[in-house]
Amino acid sequence: MKTILVAGGAGYIGSHMVALLIEKGYDVVVVDDLCTGHWQAVKGGAKLRVGDVKDRGFLDRVFSEFSIDGVINFAAFSLVGESVTAPLKYYDNNVGGAVSMLTAMKNHGVDKIVFSSTAATYGEPEKQPIEETDRTDPTNPYGASKLAIEGLLKWSDAAYGIKYAALRYFNAAGANTDVDIGEDHSPETHLIPIVLQCALGKRDHVGIYGDDYPTADGTCVRDYIHVRDLANAHLLALEYLDKGGQSGSFNLGSGDGFSVKEIIETARKVTGKAIPAVTEPRRAGDPSILIASNHKAGEVLGWKPERGLEEIITDAWNWHQGHPNGYGQ
Ligand code: UFG
Repeated sequence: MKTILVAGGAGYIGSHMVALLIEKGYDVVVVDDLCTGHWQAVKGGAKLRVGDVKDRGFLDRVFSEFSIDGVINFAAFSLVGESVTAPLKYYDNNVGGAVSMLTAMKNHGVDKIVFSSTAATYGEPEKQPIEETDRTDPTNPYGASKLAIEGLLKWSDAAYGIKYAALRYFNAAGANTDVDIGEDHSPETHLIPIVLQCALGKRDHVGIYGDDYPTADGTCVRDYIHVRDLANAHLLALEYLDKGGQSGSFNLGSGDGFSVKEIIETARKVTGKAIPAVTEPRRAGDPSILIASNHKAGEVLGWKPERGLEEIITDAWNWHQGHPNGYGQ
């Protein structure tokens, strides 16, 4: 494997993947339409081709221009709340993009794909920690679109021999300050960047979405995983498929849960700032607890997260301090 196509490589997680691949000596081709990604996030000599993965002619040209050995597909819309009001947009973009990508792979004889899936495929979990064999019953169109693609991957493996690893992320956070990349969403909806924007003085408080959940302190518990650990899992998954590994779905989380209040408290400690917090109503569709079992990724891929919550928040804080307006400055 020499040349890897990264779809959505200008986005938050995708750009960290590109940086890791470059560091490991791969040739990297990024396709991204830059509708939510940032060209500035594509570092270190990766080749960027700007276009929509749903555009089959565009993808066909990219696959003809480069001799691609494997694909990592991050390109998707990922706002849970928006997906509820715009399900057609989410199915069209996410499922349509995957159909287009798999078509190009089939036509050009590329037989390995690592795909960004999500903990949202589980919906309201039956138990904690969540295992890959647990029931999948998404409670929003975003999660449903990702689960539909996992089905498409399974059938594409059976019919065309395209091997896949579907990686179900829990809560990605952190940054790679070595190469000056980090999280820059607009609008920002995720807890850690919002908390850090408060620390920077860009917001006057963080709203805690509900403090009456059945958890120790009443706030939602999530499993936060460093974006660099996530990127590393993708590389291991690609190498696993290259060695003839079986297709499958894998949880990517730390195995530890932290409440919203614990996140705010840790951010206060890391930043030394007050970070005012105000309890607000629950956000629709938030499960009370989501914690990954990461045993399968450990056993099959040899993956182990290396960075804990303080490092996640410290790296994110360093990025936000250096880029208070994201890539916009
Ligand atoms: N939260 C707040 N205040 C905020 C923002 C978030 O209290 O201002 C809370 C949320 O209610 C939730 C927790 O902080 O309990 C984490 O929220 P995020 O929005 O950061 O992340 P989610 O857990 O909602 O979403 C993540 C991914 C999604 C994925 C989902 C799977 O970002 O892409 O996990 O459940 F779909």
